[in-house]
Amino acid sequence: MKTVNLMDPGLLTDPYRGFAQLREEAPVLRASFPGQDTPIWLVTRYDDVKSVLSDHRFVNDPGNVPGAEVTDMREKLTQARGVPPEYARYLTDGILDLDGDDHLRLRRLVSRAFTARRVTELRPRVEEISAELLDALPTDRVVDLVEEYAYPLPITVICELVGIPEADRAQWRVWGARMTTMEPGALAEPLVGVVEYIRDLIPRRRAEPADDLLTGLIRAHDEDGDRFTDTELITMVLTLVLAGHETTAHLIGNGAAALLTHPDQLARLRAEPSLVPRAVHELMRWCGPVHGTRMRYAAEDVEVGGTVVRRGEPVMALIVSANGDPRRFGDPDRLDIAREPDSRREVHVGFGHGLHYCLGAALARQEGEVAFSGLLSRFPRLRLAVAPEKLERQPLPMSWRLASLPVLLD
Ligand code: HEM
Repeated sequence: MKTVNLMDPGLLTDPYRGFAQLREEAPVLRASFPGQDTPIWLVTRYDDVKSVLSDHRFVNDPGNVPGAEVTDMREKLTQARGVPPEYARYLTDGILDLDGDDHLRLRRLVSRAFTARRVTELRPRVEEISAELLDALPTDRVVDLVEEYAYPLPITVICELVGIPEADRAQWRVWGARMTTMEPGALAEPLVGVVEYIRDLIPRRRAEPADDLLTGLIRAHDEDGDRFTDTELITMVLTLVLAGHETTAHLIGNGAAALLTHPDQLARLRAEPSLVPRAVHELMRWCGPVHGTRMRYAAEDVEVGGTVVRRGEPVMALIVSANGDPRRFGDPDRLDIAREPDSRREVHVGFGHGLHYCLGAALARQEGEVAFSGLLSRFPRLRLAVAPEKLERQPLPMSWRLASLPVLLD
């Protein structure tokens, strides 16, 4: 069996076509992934992706694979990415690295803040933030929508929710962007910055509690420090702020680019604003920013799509190819903002599936809805300032991020 190289320039520049080809080649493929010294399994088709993500025989923490030689993930991060040993744990002890009761314990601490009801309550504030940002955009020059709208909106929302002071948000934007680059050694500096920042903020917030998530988390930690450790507290804040803006920013950026390059869809959305929630759903499927999940490890031998994954082997669910799988979606390559989502079958898997299903999905969807509604109603003449083929994507594996989105507003 051939081994797919996930850093292959063809896959990096056109992941949709590349992964579609792989999906039709085989349901399960071997691949090499940066930082992973052994090959991984890639799961390419919709049904298999869902089954892997809801199968308890796949675990997120390789330490939970019975009898397997435990891979020290911290040591790996130190060796492969140059992360100082005392900081590696902040990347290995988060909610996405835990299974079973440990995972539930952390998820319960934060899930209340992200329920559909809490998110609906936040909507007016999200609309206000969006309106303020749109007001500030200049109409007499080219505007980079990624930098000037798609990023500031979610970063403001998540920082307000968590309780990161306004003055520090620009710094988080820089840390977030640096942490996602794959350049060797580039991870250490922003990681240390983020961790030290949170470590310093905690006592300040403890002394001056506020109506934010950080205050709630500090309380949970102080009341039961045995069950919610210092490391977990810092990792949770780090995860929420980074997961909460880096992804959503690119849903807004990719989605706006998709609409601007599909004038029929844009015109329809303008004519029928009630289609916005469906449009967000379709944009998540068609150009969602996250292409693969976190690694899963087989806790025992498991058959997936006719291939036996051996105990301890790593598996990645390919969201991007599942969301384009013609076995599940009619005419999957076509962007159709009125595509009817069928909630019973939970249409796309852009937010994952199963116990680790994105905690912030309702918030992200809402931010997308507010972002597109605001942008389209405010600027009827919104258009690309460059030819569509000039739009540049960041060359990162497993995600779709535009480097910029130059537009004219008026
Ligand atoms: C988990 C995507 C926005 C917080 C996930 C997963 C995906 C995902 C695919 C599952 C990963 C896996 O199973 O390996 C996205 C996308 C977003 C988005 C595409 C925006 C368009 C957000 C926001 C938050 C957030 C706004 C803020 C709270 C999380 C957390 C998890 C998660 C904490 C881990 C949940 C767990 O392990 O139980 N996200 N996400 N995400 N997401 Fe999001």
